[in-house]
Amino acid sequence: MSVIDEIKQRLDAVEVIGSYVSLKKAGATYKGLCPFHTEKTPSFVVFPSSQTWHCFGACGTGGDIFSFVMRHDNLDFGEALRLLAQRAGVELEPLTPGAREHADLLERLRQINALAASFYQQVLADSPDADAARAYLERRSVTPASQRAFQLGYAPNDWHRLEQFLRTQGVAQDEALQAGLLASNESGNVYDRFRARIMFPIRDMQGHVVGFGGRVLDDSQPKYLNSPQTPLFDKGSVLYGIDLAHSAIRESGIAIIVEGYMDVIVPHQCGATNVIACMGTALSEAHIDVLKRICTTLILALDPDDAGLRAAERGALAASESLPRQVVPVPDARGLIRYEERLGAEVRVLMLPRGMDPDELILSDRALWDRLVADALPVPEFYLQRARQEIDISTARGKQDAVERMLPVIAAVDNPVQRSHYLQRVSQWVRIDERQLMPQLDALRGTGGSPRRKRPERRISSSPADAAPAAPRAEISSFLSLEEHCISLLISDPGGASGPIRETRLSDSTFADPRHREIFRQLQPYMDDETRPYDTRALIASLDTESAAHVESLSRRLQSEPNLSEEAFREDLIKCCTRLRRQELSRRIEELRFVQLEAQEQGETDRVRDLAAQIAALTGEHLRIERRFVAATYGGKRQS
Ligand code: UTP
Ligand code: MN
Repeated sequence: MSVIDEIKQRLDAVEVIGSYVSLKKAGATYKGLCPFHTEKTPSFVVFPSSQTWHCFGACGTGGDIFSFVMRHDNLDFGEALRLLAQRAGVELEPLTPGAREHADLLERLRQINALAASFYQQVLADSPDADAARAYLERRSVTPASQRAFQLGYAPNDWHRLEQFLRTQGVAQDEALQAGLLASNESGNVYDRFRARIMFPIRDMQGHVVGFGGRVLDDSQPKYLNSPQTPLFDKGSVLYGIDLAHSAIRESGIAIIVEGYMDVIVPHQCGATNVIACMGTALSEAHIDVLKRICTTLILALDPDDAGLRAAERGALAASESLPRQVVPVPDARGLIRYEERLGAEVRVLMLPRGMDPDELILSDRALWDRLVADALPVPEFYLQRARQEIDISTARGKQDAVERMLPVIAAVDNPVQRSHYLQRVSQWVRIDERQLMPQLDALRGTGGSPRRKRPERRISSSPADAAPAAPRAEISSFLSLEEHCISLLISDPGGASGPIRETRLSDSTFADPRHREIFRQLQPYMDDETRPYDTRALIASLDTESAAHVESLSRRLQSEPNLSEEAFREDLIKCCTRLRRQELSRRIEELRFVQLEAQEQGETDRVRDLAAQIAALTGEHLRIERRFVAATYGGKRQS
């Protein structure tokens, strides 16, 4: 029995979830207010029979106890595993000595940062050293409540005050150096890195302080000093304000990205709590990994004079560090549209009034801010409107400029319906038949349509000699569960699996074993981008010990399996995915019936109707999947 099974056996979902959410028995289920979105009537249901939960209200999420604590406490799978193992009294495989040492170091650095944050906070609260800082924050309209919420502080104008404080707290000098709070010069003298600065602790999703930004009170340079790269702090992956913003982002589905510290704090204070900032860098893969789990729309707040934006329009890549002023560093249009693909969310652009930062705007005109958010435009539309404002198309030269500026943007759009929509818009604007623009557009997209390079041949077995064409997977199936079989196929070639996965709408929630869900999540980037280089070692390194051991054992089995032809692989995978999806959908439909029954008993006719519609939608999907399964199983045979 796996550790996961043991934990699930020892813990009761009603009891675990009931310790976070107040639950009431309702027929064969338990009901409560959904902790993941705001609601007045309970639509959050726990099913004791299957040990799962589901929200039948606005957010529509669900899963088992693992997915529940991950979502509720913002934990990654490894953390959720540790928490529930402890609760169940189940021993986990110990971490390797190296991993343990690293985890200990991170924990220690978090503690030191927390100490420093409280030191700075204390100075800001009551030291005469901070008089000017308090006045400054007041002038910038930062209320005491938001100073507390963001744990703002002040680093006194002194070379050793923090160092001394940390020493009294038992922090070794080299640890404080490693945390980036102290610095040393060539002659080895150690001093406080941050002096005479307002301190902005930067926190991760769980609220741990991972680094700091410090702002001067006058015009001296640098305006902001940030923590250096440390084992805990990576400037390219933090999102300032994410700990306070993630629930609002989840609820609204919208994240607004602004430039800096003040542009996050002040909007939050004014009730716009879905605002976050990336710290002077363009959106990175790491940002996207976090955001794609929680939002469906990403709005970038941009300044019209933004140098990065201008460069983006010229098709040049914004060199974020060297540019004078940017609200959010932006890559070119193609880059922006790529964000969209990677995110699975729509990217929109919010144009700020000239020369105004979000903090100033929201303070001076809240209604205007709301309007600008509501009017934010999808990326291609945004570029089109800018081009229309700036280019005079009454001349031949103007027409050419317009086409040259817009076609690369349109070429970057992968969705053919959207691409043809924007092509039409441009051709109507410049009054040139779209068929005449087609060859240029095709050229920009690269001949043959798809820009993807061919992916490397899949290697399942090390000796191609024993490649057996007939029923290649029969053996493995008899040993592995359906889920394990599916995961085995995925880890052998995630890029090659992306088609069937998309087609059957398989997602992490399809899997009942939380290790499989975690493995699926880690494989997602390789399925999204088939050209991304993949090997199982990198996958294993990104996993917690339980899931990693599982992948290892599955790939050991794969080693002894014959090679699969491209078609056999696809067919096998389609069958697997459709069977898993059928199971998932039946499970969901059954759950809905339970809930519907209960609503009927309560005489809640509106809900009964609503649930019936949900059941109908799932039944439709079930039928679609059923047909796909039949086609995969018998389709090939009929043809031959
Ligand atoms: P800005 O110079 O536009 O500052 O830098 P700001 O956020 O509007 O700050 P206020 O309103 O003058 O207080 C934007 C962001 O770029 C990073 C910071 O994250 C800052 O919030 N930055 C800027 C630095 O890291 N170092 C700097 O010297 C300047
Ligand atoms: Mn500003």
